[in-house]
Amino acid sequence: MSENNVLLRVDHLTKHFPITRGILIQRQVGTIQAVDKVSFVIREGETLGLVGESGCGKSTTGRTILQLYRPTAGKVYYRDVDLTELKGEQLRQARRNMQMIFQDPYASLNPRMTVGKIISEPLDVHNIGNGRERIERVHELLELVGMSPHFVNRFPHEFSGGQRQRIGVARALALQPDFMVLDEPISALDVSIQAQVVNLLEELQEKFRLTYLFIAHDLSMVRHISDRTAVMYLGKIVELAPRDELYSHPLHPYTQALLSAVPIPDPIKERKRQGIILEGNVPSPVNPPKGCRFNPRCPVAIDICKKEEPEWREISTDHWVACHIV
Ligand SMILES: Nc1ncnc2c1ncn2[C@@H]1O[C@H](COP(=O)(O)OP(=O)(O)O)[C@@H](O)[C@H]1O
Ligand code: SF4
Ligand SMILES: [Mg+2]
Repeated sequence: MSENNVLLRVDHLTKHFPITRGILIQRQVGTIQAVDKVSFVIREGETLGLVGESGCGKSTTGRTILQLYRPTAGKVYYRDVDLTELKGEQLRQARRNMQMIFQDPYASLNPRMTVGKIISEPLDVHNIGNGRERIERVHELLELVGMSPHFVNRFPHEFSGGQRQRIGVARALALQPDFMVLDEPISALDVSIQAQVVNLLEELQEKFRLTYLFIAHDLSMVRHISDRTAVMYLGKIVELAPRDELYSHPLHPYTQALLSAVPIPDPIKERKRQGIILEGNVPSPVNPPKGCRFNPRCPVAIDICKKEEPEWREISTDHWVACHIV
């Protein structure tokens, strides 16, 4: 596939957090390897789904791409500009193009600010437009997310979860970004509301040609929305493929296990198939297993899996996997 429509290139991106002890003199006693050498591209206008169990490093990946956390190592290129080298005003300008939507719309909106103030804050910060233009823009943004402009003087607590998520989306759109990290944007919402928010995100994507990194904790949530899907385990991306390819031909044993846990709508097929049960819990990213990080839980591990880290390889066009036996 042509690579000239790549919007973001993530190259060996790594984020480790130090664990420190001591009150007066802080000393480092360990390292949390939250994200470790992950590489992938995000193409213009696509939705890349990023899936994995809680604590595997999804949010850290999203934040490190946006430089909300500075990486420990690795690079992030946005239209060939290396974000990891940018500082100060240059970084501030680059960030206008990239926004993040958080899982918890309750925590991410300032409870003491009116809806109008929340949405116009990015315009104030970047000094865009005069007072009247900002008010008009706020009205326009509210309409874009399907809310009445009459709500400008209300406060976040007066709204439902779904409406608050819409307010967050309106705010994120204020600076006309072209890339958004959607960090579990529907996980905290009632099931009945989830589809509405997903539909809104899809509409906006089409209208403004937005590119999404859509984070979710299970594969069924991103199946509908993603063009390609990446599966993460303990700080590593273990498999990435076009959506239908991943769901019909999962190659990594972890992806296979995750998919075997997703119910099939057909009751006859559902009764016949065998689920793969994973033994044990996700190990800690403090001292991740040597070799393949999945080896202690992998039902088909071989000797080399305990010693050598599997290489991240493109097995067929656009289908990437890191596993010794694939
Ligand atoms: N700011 C932080 N400081 C220290 N450790 C962190 C920080 N953010 C995340 N972590 C740790 O990094 C790992 C990955 O976390 P996270 O990226 O939030 O995972 P996910 O979003 O997949 O649930 C976890 O072990 C978490 O405790
Ligand atoms: S590399 Fe080995 S342990 Fe890791 S997923 Fe493949 S077979 Fe399992
Ligand atoms: Mg998270």
